[in-house]
Amino acid sequence: MKVNFTETVLRDANQSLIATRMPFSAFEPVLSKLDKAGYYSLECWGGATFDSCLRYLDEDPWERLRKIRAACPNTKLQMLLRGQNLLGYKHYPDDVVRLFVKKSIENGIDIIRIFDALNDVRNIEVAVDETLKNGAHASGTICYTLSPIHNLESYVKLAKEIEALGVQSICVKDMAGIMSPKEGYDLVKALKENVKVPIVVHTHSTTGLGFMTLLKCVEAGADVIDSAISCFSGGTSQPATETLVYTLKQYGYEVDVNEKVCKEINDFFKPVRAKALESGLLNPVVMGTQTDALIYQIPGGMLSNLVAQLTAQKKLDKLDEVLLETPRVREDLGYPPLVTPMSQMVGVQATANVLAGERYKNISKEVKSYIKGEYGKAPGKVSEELQKLVLGDEKPFTGRFADTLEPGVEAAREYLGDRATCDEDVLSYIAFPTQAEAFFEKRDMKKKNTFTYSINKINN
Ligand code: CO
Repeated sequence: MKVNFTETVLRDANQSLIATRMPFSAFEPVLSKLDKAGYYSLECWGGATFDSCLRYLDEDPWERLRKIRAACPNTKLQMLLRGQNLLGYKHYPDDVVRLFVKKSIENGIDIIRIFDALNDVRNIEVAVDETLKNGAHASGTICYTLSPIHNLESYVKLAKEIEALGVQSICVKDMAGIMSPKEGYDLVKALKENVKVPIVVHTHSTTGLGFMTLLKCVEAGADVIDSAISCFSGGTSQPATETLVYTLKQYGYEVDVNEKVCKEINDFFKPVRAKALESGLLNPVVMGTQTDALIYQIPGGMLSNLVAQLTAQKKLDKLDEVLLETPRVREDLGYPPLVTPMSQMVGVQATANVLAGERYKNISKEVKSYIKGEYGKAPGKVSEELQKLVLGDEKPFTGRFADTLEPGVEAAREYLGDRATCDEDVLSYIAFPTQAEAFFEKRDMKKKNTFTYSINKINN
């Protein structure tokens, strides 16, 4: 049996370990090697890379993608897309989603992994449809979580709904690294028995389960697994590529990844990691194993956010109470998967409930929108009491929220005028307006400077 590998060093590993701060110049020299390693795909775009390029790295994210494409002609390039939210946290109108997907593919993306934080299929269907229309691979995604209403049956039902959209694969996305080897095995087995498309497994090493879970998932028939080159693996990142290749080859699985090339790639990244450690960008804590997430059943990132929030308010002594309140709030909201933005929403509300000494005395704007139905359908039943508090006698919106939005592309085009040089610019602006405008301004300055410089040269 064959096992395929998706290498995450340029996107998820970069995002999980060093807040996506790796500039293009830092990995440019290794791209031709990544192209020769035998990966099924290279996850290199989407997620936080786009925002980080504009906000911190002074890079045009589209140009980064085109350069990776040119340097890796033989490997499929993959991106992560938050369905109707694209790369952000709010819903965009369909014309924006379609243009974004079309341009991502035009600029070099082959595979788009598309998910929705609530597993509401209506929030991924337009992105999937546009991906298929443009001849690319849509990987429909299940956000994995644990709750009384999430079980094999509900995941199989969801997988069938996703498969019906026409996706070419289904990814189990365990963003918190809480899927155990047993749960992974049972889930992949159930999916293999019930859907025809290949199954991809994505997890994190945060709690230490990662390697075991991936091995058991492969035994259950997983077709593709995500991993990171070893010196950018472990902790909040993915399990190590080389270790998995070594193990799976011993078991007789067919693996295309070349160990020699992996060694060269890893040697390349060693000084990149050393520099990140030295500057403090890479905190050794995130590379360790954090098992508290297994006790509280909440993602490690969310736990550290709660601690930071309470520390800032000098209320760290309330942590235990907040940790007890968190699952109660999650239950009231109908058990949303604890992935961004739901993890923040639940954490902030639980903290507010504890600090106010009264539940839902202050209800956050986000929780209100969620209850109104503006994020999509809650996985389970929302507490009636809470619903009354927010909506009174009104009913929540049950349609697809994007249907209520006005088209956005033309308006952004008009607003930007000749500051936008192409549709990619317009999309950058729609996704991250402030960052994009600042980026355009700097880019214009550079152009002017270069122009003055050339004039001076001619004059001299
Ligand atoms: Co991830």
